Amino acid sequence: MMNPIYINQNEILKRYKQPDKFTHKGIQGHALIIGGSYGKMGAVCLSSKACLKTGCGLVTVFIPKCGYEILQIAIPEVMVVTDNQEKFISDITFDIKPQAIGIGPGLGLEIETQQAVYKLLQTNKIPLVIDADALNILSKNKEWLPLLQPKTILTPHPKELERLIGKWVSEEEKMAKTSTFSKQCNLIIVMKGAPTRIVDGETIYENTTGNAALATAGTGDVLTGMITSLLVQSYEPINAAILGVYLHGLTADIALPETGYQSFIASDVISNIGKAYL
Ligand code: APR
Ligand code: MG
Repeated sequence: MMNPIYINQNEILKRYKQPDKFTHKGIQGHALIIGGSYGKMGAVCLSSKACLKTGCGLVTVFIPKCGYEILQIAIPEVMVVTDNQEKFISDITFDIKPQAIGIGPGLGLEIETQQAVYKLLQTNKIPLVIDADALNILSKNKEWLPLLQPKTILTPHPKELERLIGKWVSEEEKMAKTSTFSKQCNLIIVMKGAPTRIVDGETIYENTTGNAALATAGTGDVLTGMITSLLVQSYEPINAAILGVYLHGLTADIALPETGYQSFIASDVISNIGKAYL
């Protein structure tokens, strides 16, 4: 494996942009989170709240109808646009102008949802984070990969990565295959795990924050929201991925003395983003 660049405080300070004192919510950026299906609306709640907490100005979610009240009640700061379908997404149309999109948390794999993702990929021109079931949809339809804009960010956990690039027999081979895939498709791959590695062609970054407390439901959905938030704040995709992964891990390091490994949950990531920024 090529020597990784370690994502430590030094690498972060090179990339981090101090917020401007005279900014307003219009300048801080508008993010769109697309996801959710019946029984999985929590994933969108976590992702969209994390997105707001990472500093963007506005967040809209696009969800199936059954999630409308859930979202409005859970997170009053988030705006909601609903699909025509009750329980899953079938047609992604909206008249807002977000600067980036995060898609996948809780999305489900309905055939109509797959077609809706296809339509979005055909027309989308803004930075995109693809996670969870949106990744699984892409893995089922690999012929859609050329539709992705350069430097689209994919955030697979190990199983999702395997569906995307196939099996590997060693760590070495996993890294080599991911690097080749990243280069061929011109995509940024956030290989979630312990440690999380970010692959941008031949360059590999390895995160130094985070701990096993993160091995709990929904922490990946939170990461998707955080990276999407950084994209709308005008970070280059690679810097959004690096900063997002580092801050996400740091929340778990900060919270650990209070929660221990056992009682840390995805909401604890969200409530510690502020401290991670300090
Ligand atoms: N040490 C450090 N970080 C860890 C560890 C660990 N031992 N275990 C997990 N993490 C981090 C990962 O790096 C990643 O950022 O926790 C996060 C887990 O993300 P996901 O695996 O995507 O988990 P989750 O958010 O629960 O996924 C929700 O979407 O991806 C689908 O199948 C998944 O149904 C699930 C849903
Ligand atoms: Mg996940």
